[in-house]
Amino acid sequence: MNNQNCRVSGKPLEKILDFGLQPLGNGFVPANKSIKEYFYEMQIGFCPESRLLQLINQPEPERMFHDQYAFFSSTSKRMAQHFKDFAESALKLVHVNATDPFVIELGCNDGILLRHFSDRKVRHLGIEPSENVAKEANKIGVDTISQFFSAKLADQIVDLHGQADLFIAANVMCHIPDILDVAFGIQKLLKPNGVAQFEDPYLGDVLEKTSYDQIYDEHVFLFSCLSVEHLFEQVGLELVDAEHQSTHGGSMRYTLAHKGKYPKSNRVINLIAREISNGLGEAKTYHSFAKNVQNSRDQLIGMISNLKKQGMSVAGYAATSKSTTILNFCKIGPEDLDFISDTTPIKIGTLSPGMHIPVKSHDFFKEKKPDVALLFAWNHVEEIMGKELDFTKNGGKWLTHVPKVKLL
Ligand code: TYD
Repeated sequence: MNNQNCRVSGKPLEKILDFGLQPLGNGFVPANKSIKEYFYEMQIGFCPESRLLQLINQPEPERMFHDQYAFFSSTSKRMAQHFKDFAESALKLVHVNATDPFVIELGCNDGILLRHFSDRKVRHLGIEPSENVAKEANKIGVDTISQFFSAKLADQIVDLHGQADLFIAANVMCHIPDILDVAFGIQKLLKPNGVAQFEDPYLGDVLEKTSYDQIYDEHVFLFSCLSVEHLFEQVGLELVDAEHQSTHGGSMRYTLAHKGKYPKSNRVINLIAREISNGLGEAKTYHSFAKNVQNSRDQLIGMISNLKKQGMSVAGYAATSKSTTILNFCKIGPEDLDFISDTTPIKIGTLSPGMHIPVKSHDFFKEKKPDVALLFAWNHVEEIMGKELDFTKNGGKWLTHVPKVKLL
């Protein structure tokens, strides 16, 4: 889908950066079957009116979210704990207002967050378009329907179950191109005193850390408080709070409610003021980000080539969706990285999207002991350093590209 215009304001987008042809971030390729891989031109644009940084072209949602979707939320222990904490704090919110609360989660994946509501017998509904992960959620008792969310579906849910006290979504909203329709759907779903909370990778962190790997087909938007505030104003909802999270390399949790229902927190007022002073509302900020991205790419290519010249073996650690952008933008292939280690069963034995680096199990990583591991899951650095003490003690080196290209 080609959008030269902003998906919220309808105004022309200012082009910021062209990443060239990219495959799907989660489009792992079967090793022993010949398939025609899908590529699209990945570019980002900025809209000075909605202040939204967004993909100019995005593959159709059905290409990305289907019954072979390779991302299972429950692969990280830290994320599991994060979602438990999210559920606890959200539960406190709804219990203040409702005796028999109804909670809806958009994009519930394998149930990692909503399970904390279902375990406590809280009325809930998960909406998850990828059938394979939705099945996992249902298996653990999380009531889930496998559909794409829209304002129309919101009407049907309200007819069947009534309005919700709480609407939650984690790492989902930034995936949905027709975001105005979704915002409208949330507005319809929420009871008059209901709240919506969603979190996504935060644009402020992406700019600060040059973590351009957050840009891939699924992330059609990178949100800020400024853009979220503007988006929801269009449907009569108000941004009343925002809280920074350390997950996904820096995320923001936004809280929304019907306009005028709750006061705006000082926290969100301060965050918005900081975004304005850091230039998040101005196109020139994104043009300097584009220069930083190109420098980061040159440094990473240079670093890998130096390591190879010294005769070192280099492997990737974690076949993340983010790594697809890095590998294809920097043109890093199997001659540079011997393999990528990953713990997700569905990815093991495949080839990485576009550059076709073999994805191997974690056991293979332990056996091969590469000299250097390029940390694609840099957002899980503490969890990974904790469990890879042996690799590090035995002289294994870690290479990262965030916030700067360096050996750790
Ligand atoms: P994440 O950063 O959530 O990925 P994405 O960029 O796709 O959002 O990391 C999840 C992936 O990383 C998943 O493929 C599993 C892999 N992984 C490991 O292989 N080992 C680990 O220790 C961790 C934390 C993740």
